[in-house]
Amino acid sequence: MFGMNREEAIQLLSWYEESRRVLPWRQEPTPYHVWLSEIMLQQTRIEAVKPYYARFLAACPTIKSLAEAPEEKVLKLWEGLGYYSRAKNLHKAAKEVWERFDGNLPGNPEQLAKLPGIGEYTQKAILAIAFQKPYIAVDGNLLRVYARLNAKRFSAIDQSLKKEAESFFQKAFPLHRPGDYNQALMDLGEIVCLPNGVPLCEECPCKGFCLAHRNGDEASYPGERAKKAKKSGDIDVFLLKKDNRYAIRKRGENGLLAGLYEFPNHQGRTKKAKRKALLEEIGLKVVSETPVGEATHVFTHLIWHMKGYLIEVEGDGEGLLFLTPEEIKERYSIPSAFSYYLNLI
Ligand code: ADE
Repeated sequence: MFGMNREEAIQLLSWYEESRRVLPWRQEPTPYHVWLSEIMLQQTRIEAVKPYYARFLAACPTIKSLAEAPEEKVLKLWEGLGYYSRAKNLHKAAKEVWERFDGNLPGNPEQLAKLPGIGEYTQKAILAIAFQKPYIAVDGNLLRVYARLNAKRFSAIDQSLKKEAESFFQKAFPLHRPGDYNQALMDLGEIVCLPNGVPLCEECPCKGFCLAHRNGDEASYPGERAKKAKKSGDIDVFLLKKDNRYAIRKRGENGLLAGLYEFPNHQGRTKKAKRKALLEEIGLKVVSETPVGEATHVFTHLIWHMKGYLIEVEGDGEGLLFLTPEEIKERYSIPSAFSYYLNLI
């Protein structure tokens, strides 16, 4: 039978009992805690998530309090974590859970999957960790563990590979600790079966049945993956200053960084005359202009090359809010793409 057997899974669980990481969301794995942690952990490192997780729960300790919080507050709590659609979906889903399920996150797979922001990985992680149901949440770490245990190479991740890995690990059920089993696999992938050629095999509870280890070529799995080239774009950023106030504006409701606040900017490089004309279009007169440096921000699929200008202006500026630096920093969520410029004001 192709798959992790129960004895192997039990060895893994014994290792987990001794070596598991102490993580805040493991102290009291309620559905809300597990849900919040899984959303924060998408695309974000554990160490970066820890302080955000604590602060978020202090401000919104229950699904009800999250449902009742204004969006601005939720986005502010998320500021710096990035991928803000996660926060917006979490907030939307909390409202739905409050209205439709009396504030209890459903343990039913279909109802869970219909909530905004809960994709297959998160759905299965919540079902296993918070509801002790026999699901396996498969991510890149688990796929690497799967590839090495079975000496199997792959060059791309697709649905059928995920299904294979899922059924491989599911063979250990009925194991009565699905939550620990999933988290043991996560810890194994994150602290032992490391990527980039340096797995710590001597510490691994699976070394006795790992085919890649038996062959002595663990580091060569899962194999070379084709990298997608990132697109890049030039953005000119304007720090529009009036008295001791600077302009920010709200981004559109769709697309990259939707609904967040930003310094006014323009896609593509501008010349001085163009900047003057752009500002005139929204009712601003340029008094003086100074370049303030360049910055780069790397998103998942995109790179921004930014060039900034401090521009003293007169006038109101359609669609702009002129605020003091303190007001901007304390009350608005400015995406970290703009941190270089935020630190200048
Ligand atoms: N990565 C995603 N979820 C995790 C969890 N619950 N524990 C450890 N690593 C994780």
